[in-house]
Amino acid sequence: MSKELFNKLLSPDQCFKKLLTFLIKNKQHFNYEQVVHLTSSFARFIQEGYQTDLSLQVYDHLGFINPNNNPYIQFLDILKKKHRLDQDIVEIGGGELPAFSKYIAREQLKLGKGTITVYDPYLEFNKRELHYSYPNLRLVKKEIDLDSDLKPCDLIVSRFACDAAELIVEQADENDYDYFISLCACDHMPYPFLENLEYLEDARNYREFIINKSRALAERKNCDHHLLPYDMYNDVSPIISVQKRLKK
Ligand SMILES: C[S@@+](CC[C@H](N)C(=O)[O-])C[C@H]1O[C@@H](n2cnc3c(N)ncnc32)[C@H](O)[C@@H]1O
Repeated sequence: MSKELFNKLLSPDQCFKKLLTFLIKNKQHFNYEQVVHLTSSFARFIQEGYQTDLSLQVYDHLGFINPNNNPYIQFLDILKKKHRLDQDIVEIGGGELPAFSKYIAREQLKLGKGTITVYDPYLEFNKRELHYSYPNLRLVKKEIDLDSDLKPCDLIVSRFACDAAELIVEQADENDYDYFISLCACDHMPYPFLENLEYLEDARNYREFIINKSRALAERKNCDHHLLPYDMYNDVSPIISVQKRLKK
């Protein structure tokens, strides 16, 4: 990630004031650690473009992200190369403040077809405001498990699915849904240490495990299985795209 992530049409001062106003207005939604994180990581975002998922969601919402270099839009561009958007799409793990789904909803409105439903147990904001702008977007504050009924659903998407990755692969296999998920760089162990080599090794092992499982299940169902690169956080995250073959 580079500095180009920052939308230079706005000054850092203007952005920081906007961030503080947003945090005060929405204080019931943030705990102390999140406020400290969002304010203290701001300088690093301006200088290095670095951010975590929560700050990326908030900075995207506030218009701080350069639209020409927006990670959610980049993810959407890759999705569009493989899957149709004019269908019923479910996003699992949309985050606190839905970002990716908003861009999907916007494209679907242009197409005049398709819905997007987002699930996350931490979904907090904007329900009314977002629904007003995007009537095709449904927000559900809920953790998904294998028994969850996701219908209507043709395609599951998830950006950095994290712990939900294996669940998505299994849910999709069980119900014959197509899916498109990027795998994060967590090791999925209780005590992650970002700079630790072992941690990175565990993250790679986790990715391998999910990729192999999804490939085996896709082959069994005679589905197309593709791995695509997603360039984020100085690391190329794999995207798994699985799609039913069209009947000739
Ligand atoms: C790494 S964050 C990614 C957030 C968002 N996709 C983004 O890119 O900004 C992973 C999210 O997945 C959510 N999540 C994990 N397991 C889930 C499950 N079983 N059902 C729904 N959401 C889940 C977490 O609450 C978290 O918000």
